[in-house]
Amino acid sequence: MALPASFLEELRARTPLPAVIGRRVKLSRAGRQWKGCCPFHGEKTPSFQVYDDHYHCYGCGAHGDAVSFVMQSQGTSFIEAVEQLAAEAGMEVPRPTPAAAEADRRRLDLHGVLAAAAELFQHRLLQPEGARALDYLRGRGLSEATIRRFGLGWAGPAALPQAPAPLLEAAGLLTRPEEGRAARAFYFNRVMFPIRDGRGRVISFGGRILGDGQPKYLNGPETALFAKRRTLYGLDAARDGVRGGATLVAVEGYMDVIALHQAGFAGAVAPLGTALSEEQLTEMWRLSPLPVLCFDGDAAGGRAAARAAALALPLLGAERSLRIAALPGGDDPDTLVRRGGRPAFQATLDAARPFAETLYDITRAAIGDTTPEQRARLRGRLEELAAQVTDKPLAGELRRALLDRFFAARRSRSAGAARPLMVRHPAAPPDAERCRTLLAILLRHPALLHDVEEALGSLDLPPPLDRLRRELTAWSVAAETLDSEGLMTHLTTAGLATEAAQVLSAVPVPLPACAAADAQPAQAEEGWWHIFGLMNRSRLEDEVAAARRDFAQNPDLAGQRRLIALRTAYAALCGGEA
Ligand code: UTP
Ligand code: MN
Repeated sequence: MALPASFLEELRARTPLPAVIGRRVKLSRAGRQWKGCCPFHGEKTPSFQVYDDHYHCYGCGAHGDAVSFVMQSQGTSFIEAVEQLAAEAGMEVPRPTPAAAEADRRRLDLHGVLAAAAELFQHRLLQPEGARALDYLRGRGLSEATIRRFGLGWAGPAALPQAPAPLLEAAGLLTRPEEGRAARAFYFNRVMFPIRDGRGRVISFGGRILGDGQPKYLNGPETALFAKRRTLYGLDAARDGVRGGATLVAVEGYMDVIALHQAGFAGAVAPLGTALSEEQLTEMWRLSPLPVLCFDGDAAGGRAAARAAALALPLLGAERSLRIAALPGGDDPDTLVRRGGRPAFQATLDAARPFAETLYDITRAAIGDTTPEQRARLRGRLEELAAQVTDKPLAGELRRALLDRFFAARRSRSAGAARPLMVRHPAAPPDAERCRTLLAILLRHPALLHDVEEALGSLDLPPPLDRLRRELTAWSVAAETLDSEGLMTHLTTAGLATEAAQVLSAVPVPLPACAAADAQPAQAEEGWWHIFGLMNRSRLEDEVAAARRDFAQNPDLAGQRRLIALRTAYAALCGGEA
């Protein structure tokens, strides 16, 4: 049953989660949220976090709002959970109008017929008539498991599930070329890619021609279930992937998404043959505050990146930012991982650049910055761009970041030519941001200080970060316990509160999850070494070797933990080859 969004919103507002969950789970305050032992898996140390509007378990990944908590903890249906919460909140559940009930029923029928079609196509792929299509998919490097995972199929001639014609038409499976002419199957002799919504339900198909021909891909028409602009291919799979820690990354095509998932990049999604829309970007931010948009390394890719940046600009927030990655020339992600395996695409992701940097370069490339007139225009344009950000504190920070680059560029111009719009491999490493992240992790998780001491000392830091490092090191030697609160108090006393706040700021670029206060210690430690390794791989190798030696000589728990963190970070850096 579809309930009006306004009703659900009010219900959520009137049912604060800590109260609902507090009845079943003993919760204690942890900063602005609450935490306790997860009711969905046995645990002794609390990794279950409760916020005002949602909960999240860092142990088992359980995640949801008040309604899903009641559903999961009491095994009720959606509507039962809503009714129970509404009764407690003194609200009346609206009864569906006959028209709304009818629309619901039709949607259910549409889902049913699309699911049946997907099954039919999958089945045909494995029959003799599908042999050529199956060969084609195998020839493109897809494994049986991948073909199954993405539900790929074959629409032979006239493949339609058993259903009334009007329903098939409404589902986009049957088409009537002209009024009065016989209807025919929409997909004919095509390799079928089911398009699913975020919950994994088939809502349409893309059909690829075998070999050459036009159109290469035929996408389903807009229906009650399918709006191209609002759909991301691969979103259902990426949702699981991102919860498991994968980076959310938007690429261009069906085959790119599938090839990336097969190569272990479980956060890949794609729009459906059009430029990324506002709705799609917003959908991505529901999963991750810092997705990566991946573009071709050529001029067209540069223009697409500029378009995406312009689209994103007014929508940015502290928890809604972007990074932009450029593929090596001539490759799409599919061909890249086929040739270079996982490390090749990992390098592209690692070289993804923060939004502010990309925006600056795009604008400078468009206006130029050699004559005083150009520089005046460039500066004015940068200010205009920053002013488009509706989140005002962020607008101010972005303005400063853009102008910092503007003035820094003048100082360093004598040193060389302007940087290219899209950075080629190997990209210039954004080391300043990485150093900042490394310090942020330590401010949140100072217990790491002893373990990373040497590596930290080896970094080449700008003056404010260097002052922080010196203070941190001195404090870690003297302090009784290495806790974040004590450290922050100490830094304030030492006159470094502003520096610390800047390090922890979510702008201009939000910090990664491993730098969050509620990150698990192991996550923080792995994250630290991973980022360190991005800047200095051979030193990370030394650290892994040293930890292995230490652990062999003195096999205690701390040594084991350290070795695991280092090896995980190193493996991530090598894209799984280690
Ligand atoms: P590409 O032409 O880059 O396709 O279009 P691709 O994904 O690399 O295809 P392969 O590797 O040759 O199989 C990118 C996306 O644009 C849309 C599809 O969503 C495709 O994945 N597209 C492309 C269409 O909708 N129709 C077309 O005719 C071509
Ligand atoms: Mn391709």
